[in-house]
Amino acid sequence: MRPSVLITKRIFPEAVELLRQHFDVEYHDTDDGLPAEELLRRVKGKQAVVAQLTDKFTPEVIAQLDGVKIIANVAVGYDNIDVPAATRAGILVSNTPDVLTDTTADLAFALILATARRLFEANKFLMEGKWNKWAIDLLVGQDVHHQTLGIIGLGRIGRAVARRGRGFQMRILYSDARRAPEEVEQELGAVYVPLEDLLRESDIVSIHTPLTESTRHLIGTEQLRLMKPTAILVNTSRGPVVDEAALVEALRNRTIWGAGLDVFENEPKVHPGLLELPNAVLVPHIGSATVATRLKMCMLAAENVSAALQGRKPPTLVNPEVWSRSESRQDAEG
Ligand code: DGY
Repeated sequence: MRPSVLITKRIFPEAVELLRQHFDVEYHDTDDGLPAEELLRRVKGKQAVVAQLTDKFTPEVIAQLDGVKIIANVAVGYDNIDVPAATRAGILVSNTPDVLTDTTADLAFALILATARRLFEANKFLMEGKWNKWAIDLLVGQDVHHQTLGIIGLGRIGRAVARRGRGFQMRILYSDARRAPEEVEQELGAVYVPLEDLLRESDIVSIHTPLTESTRHLIGTEQLRLMKPTAILVNTSRGPVVDEAALVEALRNRTIWGAGLDVFENEPKVHPGLLELPNAVLVPHIGSATVATRLKMCMLAAENVSAALQGRKPPTLVNPEVWSRSESRQDAEG
């Protein structure tokens, strides 16, 4: 009998085809996702799940995934999955790193430029027929070139944003739970500083940290108060890293100058305060949304599933210890 795979939401057809070549596939071909109960009903008898960031794998859900070998998330972030619980249950978890790094960094930089140069506001102004004369201070914004770029989280995407900043001759500061290797700092010309210093000194702060218990509301009222009144905050990581209510206040009171946001605390809901603010540039979680990158993400998730079900090590595991454990058990048995 062929192994079975559940795909919880619509993905690119090429990846579904790849999986269908080797496995029985139950494909929930909509964008609605599956509520936990429905997911648990459908996952019975399956050995793999292709999941997305809207699927919540709590410890309670994971405890009921009998026979599932792998949860393959079609995202680099995996805060929707309780990885320690999956690891305890012996379930592999994979994500889709690397393939989306530059695409997401491009979007972060697009938000930096759009916020600094008030592009959305300017576009709206023109489209609404309000442009009737040139004026010396019409829609004046902030410079990006030669400014200080503060990167919170110098992982793959943070580094790619730093490279873009270098192209704009920016000074690069970063803060992270761990300091990057010296050669990385040198390549990027990036200076490691405490978060407070980064917030005080940066003209643009771009967030690239994963969502964990220690990064939830990492940026709140106190941190926003440290920023310059001309500063811009950009978030393409996960919404809950920023206290959205505090950000609304800071933007309203001009504690900071503007914000460019791709992610929100309660997606797809957006804090109503943000929707009223001209200095908030808002887009609907499209960081990795190019045709080529989304296809690569789907194919990588399919490849992770194929590997796990065919006895090969999945290429991008989040909890490789589960794989090593099963390998050493097989060695001992063999
Ligand atoms: C990710 O990959 O984590 C993004 O947020 C979705 O593309």
